[in-house]
Formats: sequence, structure tokens, C-alpha cells
Amino acid sequence: MPIRSGFLAEGKPAADRGEALLAVIALVHSERAAYGKASMTVILGLESSCDETAAAVVTSQREILSHALAGQEDHHRAFGGVVPEIAARAHAEMMTPLVRTALRDAGKTLNDVDAVAATAGPGLIGGVMVGLVTAKAMAMAADKPLIAVNHLEGHALSARLIDADLEFPYLLLLVSGGHCQLLRVNNVGDYTRLGTTIDDAVGEAFDKSAKILGLGFPGGPALEQSARSGDADAVPLPRPLKGADEPHFSFAGLKSAVVRAAQSGSFRVPDIAASFQLAVTDCLEDRLRYSLDRMDAPPAALVVAGGVAANQAVRNMLQRLAGEYEMRFVAPPLWLCTDNAAMIAWAGAERFAAGLSDPLDFPARPRWPLDPGAEIVRGAGVKA
Ligand code: KG4
Ligand code: ZN
Repeated sequence: MPIRSGFLAEGKPAADRGEALLAVIALVHSERAAYGKASMTVILGLESSCDETAAAVVTSQREILSHALAGQEDHHRAFGGVVPEIAARAHAEMMTPLVRTALRDAGKTLNDVDAVAATAGPGLIGGVMVGLVTAKAMAMAADKPLIAVNHLEGHALSARLIDADLEFPYLLLLVSGGHCQLLRVNNVGDYTRLGTTIDDAVGEAFDKSAKILGLGFPGGPALEQSARSGDADAVPLPRPLKGADEPHFSFAGLKSAVVRAAQSGSFRVPDIAASFQLAVTDCLEDRLRYSLDRMDAPPAALVVAGGVAANQAVRNMLQRLAGEYEMRFVAPPLWLCTDNAAMIAWAGAERFAAGLSDPLDFPARPRWPLDPGAEIVRGAGVKA
């Protein structure tokens, strides 16, 4: 078995083997780090934390050799949201065929990959376990290192997969179905959370509003589509926390206002959708300005990631804001914004290059904040 860097922290080497063993471990660790930086590595990545099952093969030189994905919309549509047990079963059915497809499309076998990476959290735990256990089995069978990836780190580093010039640190707006956070990405595994939602995630607000408006599932893209033919000034909606003297976000009040507007019968659905989308972008812009105005010097780049980063109105606002603060704006292509395995493989490649890997007993984590030191904010349902 290769010696894993996680061994020092997790495995606690026996005292009687003493310093010689520690020296060997340190040597292997540093050689791996040097090797990771110097030569090309091939990483297989798996994703199964929500309602997309995916496998991808990516190299440390930013080549996406393959990416295979199976969505589960049809399984969940009748329920109007993701049902965890149904999701876990669908992941269990699809994961192995997708791994086969990803390896075949990449022209690789399991023996050719340097490490197996999988989302180990945060997410729906039944689904997370499917991908993580599959990765552990492959790592054990092929004697490859396992890399347990934080799904949020997958999103956070995804922009570096498509932009070789994007250097640390950068400012990241992470907007997905479970999160809305503003972070400073200092390095791989090193994040400072500047702000987070005190109630709903922004994608959650899109999904719930779309459901109220009868726009179907998944809600975000459907709401954006409807908003195209609407008047964004037609419906007066609140901007929660706009102007507040704190860095956080809030969307629950906006969602409730959408319910009232829909129930009033006074407005067209596309007008409510467009007004909601404008209210969201206004809130995001205001909260970003709050943090940017308090920085001595903003980082060189503003990056957006997570499923809501697929929204064109959000991207346009961020592009404009970045220009105003003389920051470069970096947004991954739409397919890389929503859940996928290429970003997990890439985060695995970044961690592998940094000399990091994990023991085979690494647990699946339903919650896993990127910045464990960040204060706990008020509000129900806060997702870190
Ligand atoms: O990152 P992601 O695929 O999964 C999570 O990790 O949560 O994000 C999914 C979220 C959903 O709430 C979905 O409605 C939202 O991203 N989303 C969008 C758009 N595409 C996906 N929200 C607004 N506009 C879109 N075009
Ligand atoms: Zn995600």
C-alpha cells in the first residue's frame, strides 16, 4: 500500500517504529508533493451529493478527458423536489455504469489513474455514501490513493480548471441549491468565509419560487426562462438585508413575498419571475458591495460558482460589479456551474498536487463547512 498523507493524522504510527518511520513518511509525502507538481497526473472523480450522478477523468494539466453525468429530474419531478431516498437508490444504480463510461471515454483503465476522488460531503448522506464507498472500493482494489473532496471545494476550485491564470487568493461567490456564501479562497483547503445566508440558500429561493409559480422542476432554469418575457419592475418585492451593517445574505422574506404576489392574482407569472430575479441580483450586489467596500484591496479576481452561477442575470451583474472594482471576472461554463464530476476530479487533482490524500475510513459528512472557524450565524436552516 502506498503511504497516505492522511496516515499521520488519522492512523497514528506505532511508537516503537519511531522516528525512522516518520522520516520515511515525510520523504514519501514530500516526494509525492514534488511529483504532483512536476508531472501530469490523471484523476478519476465521482459526484453523488444531490441529484446528479457523475464520473469524470481530468488531468493535472486541465484536460477534461471525459465527463459522464446522469440527472435524476424525472425521478423527483412528481414530488416537486429531491427525495433523498429516491436519490440514493438512483445513485446506486447509475454510479458503476457512469464510472465505466468515464474511463472508456477517457481511454483509461483504473490502473492508469493516479488517484480516485469522490465527494465526501456536504450533501444528502445516502447519495454521498454511494460515491464515496464506490471510490473507496476502487482505491482499495487498484491500490490507489483516495481523495475525499468537499463538494463546496469542488465548486470553489472549478474556475481554476478552465482558467490557468486564476491564482490564489480570489473572491468567490458560491451560490447553489444549498449555499449562498461569499468566501476568500486563500489556497487549496484554505477559505475565509466573509458572509453566508441567515436563512434560505439562493438556489433554494429560486426553486421554491418556481414551485409557487407553477414553473416546474428544477426551478432555477425554469424561472430564468419565464423571467425573459417578464417586466422586472412590475411587482414590488423586498430586498432582505439590503443596506444592513453585516455581511450576510437573506432570501426567506423574498420567497414569502413571491407567495403573496402569486396568491394576490394581480400579477402575471413572468412579471413575478422577472421581479424576483431582479430582487435576487440586487441583494447579491448589495451584499458584495458591503464586503468589497471594507477590503483594503480586493483580490484580483471575482469568481462565481455553484448552480445559480448558470443564471445569466446573476452573471451580468457580477461582470459589471467586477469591472467597477477593477477585478477580473471568472465564471465557469454553464455545465461546470451545476453539479458535475469534473470539478470533483479537478479538486482531487489540486489536493493530490498539494500532497493530500485520505484514509479509507474517511467518513461521509452531511455538513462540512469550508471555513470551520467562521462564526455561526443566526437563523433557521443555516447551511454553514
Ligand atoms: O450546485 P448545484 O447544481 O447543486 C447544489 O450543490 O446545490 O445547484 C443547484 C441549484 C438549484 O437550486 C437550481 O435551481 C439552481 O442551482 N440553478 C439555477 C439555474 N440553474 C441552476 N438558478 C437560477 N438560474 C439558473 N439558470
Ligand atoms: Zn453543488
